[in-house]
Amino acid sequence: MITINRTSTLGIVAAMAALSMAAVPAFAKGPVPDPAVKDFQRVVDAAHARYKDLKDGKNADYIPILTETPSDLFGVVIVTKDGKVYSAGDVDYKFSIQSVSKPFTAALVMAQQGPEVLREKIGVEPTGMSFNSKMALAVYEDSVNPLVNAGAIAAVSLVQATSEADRWNKISQNLSDFAGQPLTVLEKVYESEYTTAFGNRGIANLLYNWGRLYSEPEEALRVYTRQCSVGVSARDLGLMGATLANGGVNPLTKKQVMPAKHVPELLAVMATAGFYDESGVWMYTAGLPAKTGVGGGIVAVVPGRFAIAAFSPRLNEAGNSVRSMKAIQDIAAELGVGVFGANPN
Ligand code: DON
Repeated sequence: MITINRTSTLGIVAAMAALSMAAVPAFAKGPVPDPAVKDFQRVVDAAHARYKDLKDGKNADYIPILTETPSDLFGVVIVTKDGKVYSAGDVDYKFSIQSVSKPFTAALVMAQQGPEVLREKIGVEPTGMSFNSKMALAVYEDSVNPLVNAGAIAAVSLVQATSEADRWNKISQNLSDFAGQPLTVLEKVYESEYTTAFGNRGIANLLYNWGRLYSEPEEALRVYTRQCSVGVSARDLGLMGATLANGGVNPLTKKQVMPAKHVPELLAVMATAGFYDESGVWMYTAGLPAKTGVGGGIVAVVPGRFAIAAFSPRLNEAGNSVRSMKAIQDIAAELGVGVFGANPN
């Protein structure tokens, strides 16, 4: 309990600091008429310019190779549901997707087996704790939700597959389908993470012990780690988010990657747990379902309209990218696209 309070306090302090730096209204307002196309480019350029020199936070270091990503890289992009791209900065640099992969594999589980299976065999409750919390596991004896490590490893194990290779191929193909182009593993990231994955191995073994893992634990760990090591650019993340904004249809390939009827359930989990113990502050300020990763990527979805994605390697204490958060918060506020701002007209 002490940890929860301390973490919440840190989160609030960090959020207050973030808000004080924003040069635009800090809270996302409700729907406004579709902004003119030029506004998309203007807000992307403005957010990039506003934060490009910000040095707060630091690269993740518990996966050793992530310290080697050049920390100053910064890219911001909007991708609309019809595939139009508005970008600024380093939007084509390939970094590891990390936890941003998690909702997309949860989507695969839903596509294969339906949302009830996801809810019953993994769970959809936010933990209010960090992404790798062992305390959350101990409290719930459960995978909790598919966006924390435990639930994401369980989701990988729940994908229907005939072998480890088949499991990987289905997960990898699904990520590529969301992006609308083939994505590949950054092998050095995989080696760096797998050889140091003692915490996640512990989580996988505990879940197996409790009957909450649905494949052999080391297989789930290997495939999960490969999933997290997939290379993406901010532009790729934007396309993956735009696929969710577009009812599960990729804007480029027109492939129906997940059933449209399950997109709302997935976005609900992203809204409540996408930022772990910062999810409350995130929804309070940005008002959009989103997912972060320790590689520095974030994707946020404006349902039915577009995605906002950003990449910047320096993270705050919750493991969320400092500049990516600020850029997306500002863009959401400037465009007035927070999902809770119901327009009575
Ligand atoms: O399992 C891990 O710890 C990483 N592969 C992913 C964690 C992560 O990205 C947390 N997100 N901010």
